[in-house]
Amino acid sequence: MDKMKVVGGRPLMGTVQISGAKNAALPLLFSSLLAEGEHVFHNVPRLMDIRSTAQLLEHLGCETEHIGSTFRILVRPPKSFEAPYDLVRKMRASILCLGPLLAKYGQAKVSLPGGCAIGTRPIDLHLEGLKLLGAQLELENGYVLGTTKRLKGNMILFESPTVGGTENLMMAACLAEGETTIENAAKEPEIVDLANYLIRMGAQISGAGSSIIKIKGVSKLKPATHTVIADRIETGTLLIAAALTKGDVTLTQCVPTDLDALIAKLKESGFELECSTSQMRIKPCARWSGVDLTTAPHPAFPTDLQAQFMALMTLANGTSVITETVFENRFMHVQELVRLGADITPKTRVAVVRGVKALHAAPVMATDLRASACLVLAGLAAQGETVVGRIYHLDRGYEGMDLKLKSLGAQIVRSEN
Ligand code: UD1
Repeated sequence: MDKMKVVGGRPLMGTVQISGAKNAALPLLFSSLLAEGEHVFHNVPRLMDIRSTAQLLEHLGCETEHIGSTFRILVRPPKSFEAPYDLVRKMRASILCLGPLLAKYGQAKVSLPGGCAIGTRPIDLHLEGLKLLGAQLELENGYVLGTTKRLKGNMILFESPTVGGTENLMMAACLAEGETTIENAAKEPEIVDLANYLIRMGAQISGAGSSIIKIKGVSKLKPATHTVIADRIETGTLLIAAALTKGDVTLTQCVPTDLDALIAKLKESGFELECSTSQMRIKPCARWSGVDLTTAPHPAFPTDLQAQFMALMTLANGTSVITETVFENRFMHVQELVRLGADITPKTRVAVVRGVKALHAAPVMATDLRASACLVLAGLAAQGETVVGRIYHLDRGYEGMDLKLKSLGAQIVRSEN
């Protein structure tokens, strides 16, 4: 099982290019199911989750090709309408094929994703929304079986904003008869990117990026070409890595305005940042302060950067209170940070982090994607060699993170045992 050995203490220095966003690319690839023919996506990161999506699309009868960062999909009439358990359990986002399959072909059989390390993560809001569009849905042997003649537009009010739910419903509503309104929609930049592609395919969507999205159904969509937005979570992770190592790093091909909440917290903590339209530079800060933060849906502080920011707070001057409101079990990195010498008291959804003078290397274990990034970052700042186990979590969501960190001067080695 892959491990990463990280020798801490070197400031990261230099310039690195940000990859395309995993969380934008996944729904975009699934949206291709709405129109037969060839779809072309540029700036698609080379990641495990993208490979899992390709496998699922191929299982459904598509041909896929990922050369460099260009991903081509030739969508044909499906040879199967089933997303099997073995493919869905690897990646929860597989549920995003449900909306497109129902809207385009009126049938789908998709495995329930099951639990995951960061919480139960149900899909009830996806299912309630699709029912409101007229889909007949049944749960049988761990699968959602869906059928419909043609979906019909309706008004959907999400009890709480859901990123995947908004994406599934927005895709489904594009081919429904009549108008759909999604209220309390998620406002993440990935939703806007998906809406932009659907519009390019011929969909009529307004309001994406706000809490009310309106979709006028059309009878047919056509394939198109699109460039995926920059990965704001990779950008944030690398900014925090630079901060933790007292480095001086410039990130290119990123979108600073997608990270306003993180930038505000870094500045509050004492860091100086220079931002232009597509670049960001973070400068070294000798001693930063503890700041409180609460995760919440966009544009508030992203839950996907909570673990990494906590690593930064372990070495801050003073105390930081970190509150997680999006997922119920997203503090599994805490015990591992404590192994490195951090002083953290976790409660159910609140962690109190008291800054310490130094972290010290220890063997630690990654439990999920963002926790793995948090541990690598903490290792970069710890004294000695930290070994991070189960590093495959990192590969699910970060393109060449070890190579990017190495290019900035980090001492990192992968090993099989
Ligand atoms: C997406 C991101 C993930 C990020 C999360 C929150 C992708 C592929 N993944 O996940 O990286 O951490 O947004 O920003 O884009 N919920 C329900 N019922 C539902 C759906 C969601 O109760 O039907 C709950 C979830 O358990 C969670 C909250 O709503 O507590 C937000 O989840 P959601 O926004 O749906 O996250 P994902 O789309 O799964």
